[in-house]
Amino acid sequence: FKKAFIFDLDGVIVDTAKFHFLAWKNLAESLNISFSEEENEQLKGVSRINSLEKILKWGNKTISEEKFNSLMAKKNEEYLSYVDNMSKEDILPGVLNTLEYLKENNYQVALGSASKNARRILNKVGLNSYFDHIVDGNEVSKAKPDPEVFLKGCDLLGVEPKDAIVFEDSQAGIKAANTAEMTSVGIGEESNLKEADFNFEGFSEINQETIQTLINFKK
Ligand code: BG6
Ligand code: MG
Repeated sequence: FKKAFIFDLDGVIVDTAKFHFLAWKNLAESLNISFSEEENEQLKGVSRINSLEKILKWGNKTISEEKFNSLMAKKNEEYLSYVDNMSKEDILPGVLNTLEYLKENNYQVALGSASKNARRILNKVGLNSYFDHIVDGNEVSKAKPDPEVFLKGCDLLGVEPKDAIVFEDSQAGIKAANTAEMTSVGIGEESNLKEADFNFEGFSEINQETIQTLINFKK
């Protein structure tokens, strides 16, 4: 049986994907690089550094290290200006119910996010206490699709990767979970997350029965 649940943050628990999109789009356009939803999809779950590298590659641009660092700082500043206006209202539908159910039933729960802003966001929306452990972008050296972030979560929770269920909205994250032989649950449009073991539009579709199905699933 599965024993532990690992949640991605951006796009799974909170709707911050739209803020990342806005900030990257403004940055790309300031460099005359076009940036649409399609490019954005490929940046989901991808670390800040790797995201900027990808954008520059798409635009065929090379810049100095100094400029690179100042662009990353600028992007984060804009992103945080949106984040700082967040509240409980920004928790995606159905998430709180699921977290409450897991807590009441003593399941182990961890956060596995690429973001260096994860703790700040959880604080903003008041969800800190639902997580037994938090692994975020400050604690990993290899970004998704490498499974390091989820493996660290399993280590901290004291469970084998095969006993963990991962909720993810990104292609990179689903790949990471699959590589580690965890059960992967895609949240969002199924056509973007074809490699996931299960797909749901969002947590509103997930009830106690669904959770039991995930727990009993053998990969
Ligand atoms: C992921 C997001 O969760 O975190 C990415 O999906 C983001 O879009 C990455 O680039 C890093 O986040 P941050 O907050 O450290 O820039
Ligand atoms: Mg995400």
